[in-house]
Amino acid sequence: MSKLYPVSAEFAAQANIKAADYASLYDESVTDPDEFWGRIGKRLEWSKPYTQVQDTSFDASDLHINWYADGELNVATNCLDRHLEKHGDKIAIIWEGDDPNESRRISYRELHAEVCKCANMLKNLGVQKGDRITIYLPMIPEAAVAMLACARIGAVHSIVFGGFSPDSLAGRIVDCTSKLIITADEGLRGGKKVPLKINVDEALQRPGTNTVETVIVVRRTGSPVAMQAPRDRWYHSLMAAQSTECPPEPMNAEDPLFILYTSGSTGKPKGVLHTTGGYLVYASYTHECVFDLQENDVYWCTADVGWVTGHSYMVYGPLANGATSLMFEGVPNYPDVSRFWQVVDKHQVTLFYTAPTAIRALMRDGEAPVKKTKRTSLRLLGTVGEPINPEAWEWYHRVVGDERCPIVDTWWQTETGGILITPLAGAIAQKPGSATKPFFGIKPAIVDVNGTQLEGAAEGNLVITDSWPGQMRTVYGDHQRFIDTYFKTYPGTYFTGDGARRDEDGYYWITGRVDDVINVSGHRLGTAEVESALVAHPKVAEAAVVGCPHDIKGQGIYAYVTLKTGIEPTEELRKELRDWVRKEIGPIATPDYLQWAPGLPKTRSGKIMRRILRKIAENQPDQLGDISTLADPGVVASLVDERMIR
Ligand code: WTA
Repeated sequence: MSKLYPVSAEFAAQANIKAADYASLYDESVTDPDEFWGRIGKRLEWSKPYTQVQDTSFDASDLHINWYADGELNVATNCLDRHLEKHGDKIAIIWEGDDPNESRRISYRELHAEVCKCANMLKNLGVQKGDRITIYLPMIPEAAVAMLACARIGAVHSIVFGGFSPDSLAGRIVDCTSKLIITADEGLRGGKKVPLKINVDEALQRPGTNTVETVIVVRRTGSPVAMQAPRDRWYHSLMAAQSTECPPEPMNAEDPLFILYTSGSTGKPKGVLHTTGGYLVYASYTHECVFDLQENDVYWCTADVGWVTGHSYMVYGPLANGATSLMFEGVPNYPDVSRFWQVVDKHQVTLFYTAPTAIRALMRDGEAPVKKTKRTSLRLLGTVGEPINPEAWEWYHRVVGDERCPIVDTWWQTETGGILITPLAGAIAQKPGSATKPFFGIKPAIVDVNGTQLEGAAEGNLVITDSWPGQMRTVYGDHQRFIDTYFKTYPGTYFTGDGARRDEDGYYWITGRVDDVINVSGHRLGTAEVESALVAHPKVAEAAVVGCPHDIKGQGIYAYVTLKTGIEPTEELRKELRDWVRKEIGPIATPDYLQWAPGLPKTRSGKIMRRILRKIAENQPDQLGDISTLADPGVVASLVDERMIR
C-alpha cells in the first residue's frame, strides 16, 4: 500500500480548486467540452471572439485538431498589454544570475517596452509573419523578450537548448529553414562559459543553413567574439534605435506559435508545432489551477527555456496569468548546494517547480544544506519530466517543504503543450510517485498490446482518447509522421509512448517510456540519435543504445559498440567515443556506459533484439526471456559476462 497524503484543510481553504470543484468541473469538461472550453477560453483577450470551440478527430484517415478556429488573438498582447492598466508595475520576471550577486526585476511595463523594441528590430530586419526564427540563448531575460517579440509579429520561434552542439543546432535550423538566429556571445552556468556564438558560427558552416540571413548577438559575458559583417549584428546596438510601440499582429487561433524539436523513437528529432489560441488557453489555465496561482505568488520554474516546460510554465502560462515568474541562469550546486533554497529565501518564492533528477542530486548532500535556509515562503512544490521515486518525493516533502507544502507531480510531454495528469493540491490527495488524476478535459485510458481499453485497476500503455486545446498540431514539415507516430498505434487515440498503471482509486502511475526514447535527467533522447552519432565514428562498425537505471539521472545511457575489424578496444578509445557523442549531440547525450560488443543479438532477419540488451544493462541477466530465435545465441553469454552494471 502506498502512503496517502490527504489534502491539507488549511491549503484547501484558500485553494482555487477544491475537491467538490474538481469533481464537478471534471465531469462537465468531459461530458460537454464545448461548453467548458468555450467558457475557459474567455480568460484570454481575443481581438476577434471565437464562435467555434472544439473541432477535432483522432481518426487517422480524417485527423484534424482545431480549437477556437475562427477566433483571433495575439499571444504577446495577452502576456503583456492587457496587464498594463492594472498591473503595469507588477514584476513580470525576476532574473537571478549565475553569480549570486546579480539579479534583476523587470516589471510588466518594462517587459512590454523591451518586447515591442525587439519586435520592431525583427521587423526592420525583414522578418515577416510566418518566418521561422531560431533562438539559441542562455537563461537571460532576452530569451523571454525574443519569444514574445516573435509572437507579437507572428514569427514562429524555434528555441534550441544552449547545451546542444553545433550539429544539433544546424539540423534544427535546416529543418525549419530558419531566417534569423538570436544568440549570445556566451552563456554562463555554474561559473563556466558556454561558447554559444562559436557554436552558431560552426553550425552555419553546415550545408543547408544558408537560409539564415542575420545573426543577432546578445552581449552576456563580454568575452570577445568574431562578428562577421554583414551577417552578425549586436542586439544592444540594434535595440537602441527601436520604438517602444509595436502594434500586435492579429493571429488566427490556429496560426503557429512555435516549433520545438524533441526526440522520438526513430530518426531525427521532430519539430513539434504548437499553435496560438488553444495552446495559450491551456498553458495559462493549467498554470493557474495546478500551481494554485494567487495574486502575490512568486513562482519559480527551474526548467531551461530550451525545453517545453520553460515555454509553457516559465514564460507563456505565468505571463498570460500576470504572475511573477523567476528565471534562473545557474545550476543547483553553484556556488554551493544550498543555491536553490538561497534563491527561494532571497526572492521569497512561494511556488517551486523542478525535476526529480535535481531533487535526487541534492539528496546526496543530505539535509544540512537545505535546513540552513528558511524556505518559509514556500507553499507548493511541483515536479516534472520523469517519474519521481517515492523516496525522493518524501524527501522533497519533508526536508524542502517542511511537511507543509503539497507536491504536484505533473505528467505531460512536449507534444501535449501543458500538464495532463496531476494532483490539484486543494482537491486531490497525493500518493508519492503517482501523478494522480487527469486534469480537466483529459480522458486517459490504458490499453493492452492489442489496443483493448482496460477498465478499473490495470497496467498497460497510456493513450488519450480525446483532444485538448494545448495539443500539438503537426510535426513541422511532415504531417504524415505526426499521424503515423501518434494516431496509428492504437487507432482513434493519441498514443503517449508511456506505460502507466491505474490503481484501485483511479490514480495513474507513469511507469516510463515504452518506446526507444530514454529520459536522462528529465531530458528526452532517442536511442537512435545516439546510435547514429556512434556509427558516424570511423572506428565503429555498429552500435546499439538502451537506457539503464541511474541513481541521479533516473535513466542513464548504455551503449554497446562493435568496432571495425582490426580495431583494438582500449580505454582511450572508450573515452574518445564518449567525447565524440558529446561533441556530436551535446553533453546530455554522453553515454554513461560503453560496453565493447563482439556481436549484437540479432534475429535471423537482422533486427537487433533490444529487449535483451536492456535486460543486460539493467543487470537482470536471468530475465532475458527466449533467446532461441537469435541468429547467433552465443553472443549473449559474452555480453552478459562483460556487463558493466552489477
Ligand atoms: C516523462 C516534459 C513520469 C514521460 C514535460 C513523458 C514523466 C516524457 C513525468 C516527456 C511525470 C514527464 N512522471 N514521467 N510527472 N513528466 N515524464 O517531452 O516519459 O521532455 O513521455 O516533456 O517525460 O518529456 P518531454
